[in-house]
Amino acid sequence: MSRKYLVAGNWKMNSSREEARALMAELLEAYQDPDMAAHCDLLVCPPYPYLASVIEQRADQDVMGVGGQDCSAHSKGAFTGEVSAQMLADIGCQYVIVGHSERRSYWSESSDLVREKFERVQASGMVPILCVGETQAERASGQTEARVLEQLEAVLSRVGVHAFARAVIAYEPVWAIGTGLNATPQQAQEVHSLIRRRIREESVEVADAVTVLYGGSVKADNAYGLFEQPDIDGALVGGASLKANDFLRIARACVELKAEG
Ligand code: PGA
Repeated sequence: MSRKYLVAGNWKMNSSREEARALMAELLEAYQDPDMAAHCDLLVCPPYPYLASVIEQRADQDVMGVGGQDCSAHSKGAFTGEVSAQMLADIGCQYVIVGHSERRSYWSESSDLVREKFERVQASGMVPILCVGETQAERASGQTEARVLEQLEAVLSRVGVHAFARAVIAYEPVWAIGTGLNATPQQAQEVHSLIRRRIREESVEVADAVTVLYGGSVKADNAYGLFEQPDIDGALVGGASLKANDFLRIARACVELKAEG
């Protein structure tokens, strides 16, 4: 695979200032390993209040990305409690997660709203990580493909395929998030290949280049099997991103795979 692996940690609403600092320090230290830096990009998405200090801590080691977990669909103004994409870019974020299933379900975010956020992130010069995925009921009733394509289409049809040259897609089956039930490598590969095929219909070049992550209960002991799949380019990790050792073991699976060629 010519695409570089990306392992992204979504800390969600976890950690304290001190825990964030300690976790980041351990990750930065591990990233001194040239094999790690060569084969796997690391990204952390801490809660908003800790972003600036994590970015300061990273200093010039910009091999390690920092991203927001969400942003507003508005550019600025009277939107109490919201954080704009421009603000995230201003403090040095490079990525923003949009359309995470927790946002779609707990805050009823529509695919249209997710598309607006995607556009805001790109307009601010950052890379959106667009999350898509089916629920348990949708999988059980054979609607996985339709659901994933519909979420992808809502963005693709409006922003155009070339916007995906500066985006990451994360396939996250809702039933696998935080449940300990991960998709098997084959189940994940089927959906990843579906996503890439859809992009390929619009542009072979973008399809070959776009990073498609898997998310949903990724841990050190299932990462290798997932990363072996031809269309899986890394992971969006929730729970296992909160302990440096667990997160780094996931990243090391990429290094092992690259070393094996
Ligand atoms: P999990 O979360 O790894 O805890 O399942 C993944 C995610 O929500 O991105």
